[in-house]
Amino acid sequence: MYSTLLTELSQGIFIITINRPDKLNALNTQVFTDIENAVDEIQSNPEIKSAIITGAGPKAFVAGADIAEFANYTKEQAMALSKRGQDIFFKIENSKKPIVAAVNGFALGGGCELAMACHFRLASENAKFGQPEVNLGLIPGYGGTQRLTQLVGKGKSMELHMTAHLIDANEALQLGLVNHVTTAETLMERTKDILQIIQSKAPIAISKLIECINIAATPDHLDNGYGKEVAAFGDCFATEDMKEGTTAFLEKRKANFKGS
Ligand code: COA
Repeated sequence: MYSTLLTELSQGIFIITINRPDKLNALNTQVFTDIENAVDEIQSNPEIKSAIITGAGPKAFVAGADIAEFANYTKEQAMALSKRGQDIFFKIENSKKPIVAAVNGFALGGGCELAMACHFRLASENAKFGQPEVNLGLIPGYGGTQRLTQLVGKGKSMELHMTAHLIDANEALQLGLVNHVTTAETLMERTKDILQIIQSKAPIAISKLIECINIAATPDHLDNGYGKEVAAFGDCFATEDMKEGTTAFLEKRKANFKGS
């Protein structure tokens, strides 16, 4: 179904593996189309409760946008590519179901941007992160200047972008770019364990958390973030799952959420 992705659905978790290992899973036009369609599938398929994005092979998550495609781009084509990349990554960021990056090697340029568009990130010990676009006379085009700054702060973001310096998984952990560092062998299991915990919670409440927390990372948060939280809090009270969750607590039993 997807020529550049491997997909698998197990226990509600949809695993998307970007599958161009000979090109270190670089993001070309087809990968973008496939990722967009896969994110749509996550929203439309009720069997899918959450998703993981990872890369094929032992070396790379995604080593960036496919530089080979850049060669003859005009300014207008470059802007269109940037807008398309940003729009697809917004779809990931605004997914109603959790999407987590399992970073299994190089996450450079567009690869780092893809990981940052996910709701959070785990990394294996061999992962390397960076925005090395200045080496090519470029800057990031898929949201990197914005999301890296949100995640690690302005000064560190400036330095990482300007120097093109790559950081390892432990530095990414210290900076808050990733939440956990694992061995290469345990990366997928650890990511799945966290998603199983999330899948045991009320799905509507999880989707409302995504909406509210996404606003906190934007300049709109003072105007809209608190208001969004009020509305989302109210929305949760109108769900069956909220009745089930509070009743289960009072009856001293485990809640059985239905997603309604
Ligand atoms: N776009 C297109 N092809 C890429 C790529 C990218 N972003 N990253 C890697 N590749 C290709 C290489 O051209 C090579 O293809 P080939 O075997 O047909 O020559 C293959 O993937 C393996 O990469 P290679 O460079 O030989 O591996 P390495 O282990 O020596 O180096 C990296 C790994 C990640 C350090 C190096 O590939 C690199 O710097 N990639 C570009 C990173 C980058 O600038 N990303 C931002 C793009 S905007």
